[in-house]
Amino acid sequence: MNKQPIRLAVLGLGTVGTGVVQLLQTNFDEIKRRTGREIVITHVGTRRERDDIDSSVKQSADLLNIVAQDDVDIVVEVMGGTTVAKDVIIEAIKQGKHVVTANKALLAEHGNEIFALADKHHVKVAYEASVAGGIPIIKIVREALSANKIDWLAGIINGTGNFILTEMRDKARTFEDVLAEAQALGYAEADPTFDVEGIDAGHKLTLLASIAFGIPLQFDKVYCEGITKITTQDVKYAEELGYRIKHLGFAVRRALPNGEQGIELRVHPTLIPEDKLLANVNGVKNAVLVDAHPVGQTLYYGAGAGAGATASAVMADVTDIVRMMNDSDNRNPNLVPHLAFLPQNLSHTRILSADEIISGYYLRVQVKDDVGVLAKITHILSQLEISIDAILQKPAHELGEVPVIIMVDPVIEGKMNEAIAHIEALDSVVDKVVRIRLDELVE
Ligand code: HSE
Repeated sequence: MNKQPIRLAVLGLGTVGTGVVQLLQTNFDEIKRRTGREIVITHVGTRRERDDIDSSVKQSADLLNIVAQDDVDIVVEVMGGTTVAKDVIIEAIKQGKHVVTANKALLAEHGNEIFALADKHHVKVAYEASVAGGIPIIKIVREALSANKIDWLAGIINGTGNFILTEMRDKARTFEDVLAEAQALGYAEADPTFDVEGIDAGHKLTLLASIAFGIPLQFDKVYCEGITKITTQDVKYAEELGYRIKHLGFAVRRALPNGEQGIELRVHPTLIPEDKLLANVNGVKNAVLVDAHPVGQTLYYGAGAGAGATASAVMADVTDIVRMMNDSDNRNPNLVPHLAFLPQNLSHTRILSADEIISGYYLRVQVKDDVGVLAKITHILSQLEISIDAILQKPAHELGEVPVIIMVDPVIEGKMNEAIAHIEALDSVVDKVVRIRLDELVE
C-alpha cells in the first residue's frame, strides 16, 4: 500500500476549520490506525496570518492557488458562502481534487451542478458536516437505509434555533440574549438570520430530501418559516395544552386525491406533544426521525453545531476518501452516488406548493369578550369542514379582550388560509390570528 501521507488544504479557519485542525492533532494516531495513512494539513486558506498554526503549514488567502497545488489531495472547504466557495470548489474538482465541505447553503443552491461536475471528473464531494453537525445522518440515509423506501423524515436541524427556543422556555431569556450567546459559541451562521428565519434548516432539508427520495436539489421550492415570531405567550399556552414548540423540517411524500404523488418540503415552528422524543431534544442538539419501510421509524440524535461535532463529520468524510484512495485499483470514487440514487434515476415528483401542505394547527385568536364570538369562529371552521381538536379560552383581561386557542386536525393549508381570512374579518376579532403548525406524523 502507498504509505505517502494524504495532504489536506483546509480553507477557512473559523469555528469549524479550527476544530478540524485541532481534531487532527488530537486524534492523529486513532485516525491513522483506521486508514493506515498519515493525514497532514499542508495548506490553510485564511484571510489573516494565524500564529496558532504549525509553521510547516503554508498559509495563504489565495484559495484558487491553494487548490491547484500538487501537495493537496483533498480540499476541505469550511469557510461557507455561495460565491467564492463555489468558485474554489469548482476549481478543486477541475484540478481532480476530492472535496469535503460543510457548506449546506452552497450545495442546496448549486449542488446539482457541483455533483455533476464531480462525477465528470471522477472525484468525490463529501458533505456529511453540512447537515446536523455531528450526527452522521447523510451516511445513515444514503447508505445505511438504502434498502428502504422512505416515506417521510422530520428533524430539528438547526442547533441555534433549538438553543434559542430551549433557553426561552426554560429560563425565560430573551431571544436577542440567547442569539448573542449562540453566536459567541460558534453555533450561528455568519448571517444569523439564516438560523432564525429557517433558511439554514431549509438548506439542510433540501439535502436530506434529495437523498431520501432521489430527487434533484430544489431549495427554491422549500417553504421556510423561522422562529422570530414565536412569543413566550404561545410557548406557555402550548405547554398548558401538553405541547412544546420546536422548529422542525419535514420532507413528506403525499399521495394526492387525484392519484398523483407529491412531496412536501417545509420548515416551520411546530407543536409536538410533550411526551414525544423530538419534543425533548433541547439546547444545541439536533435530531432526525426517519420513517422508512420496512425498517420503521428510526431516530438519530446528537450535537447539531459547534467545532468538535462538525469537525468529527468533516474528518469522517476525509477518512472515507482516504480509504478509497488506498484502493490501488483506482476505482470510481462515486460508487455511492452523491445524492444516493444513480443520477439518471432521479425522480421528478412534484414539490407541493405551500397551499397544498397538510397539517394540524394551533390558532390563537385575540377577541373582544362579546357574546357569541366563539360560536361564530367555530361556525366558520365547521362550514369549511375543519375539525376542532381542542379549545382553550383564557379569562378576559382589563381591556375586555380574550385569547382563544383552538387546535384543529390536519387540513390542507389553502383551506386554513380561507378560514383564517373569515375569522380575521369578524368584528370581535381584534388582531391577526397567530397560527403555528401542529405535527401529526411524529411518534
Ligand atoms: N448554524 C448552524 C446551526 C450550524 O445552528 O445548526 C450547523 O450547521
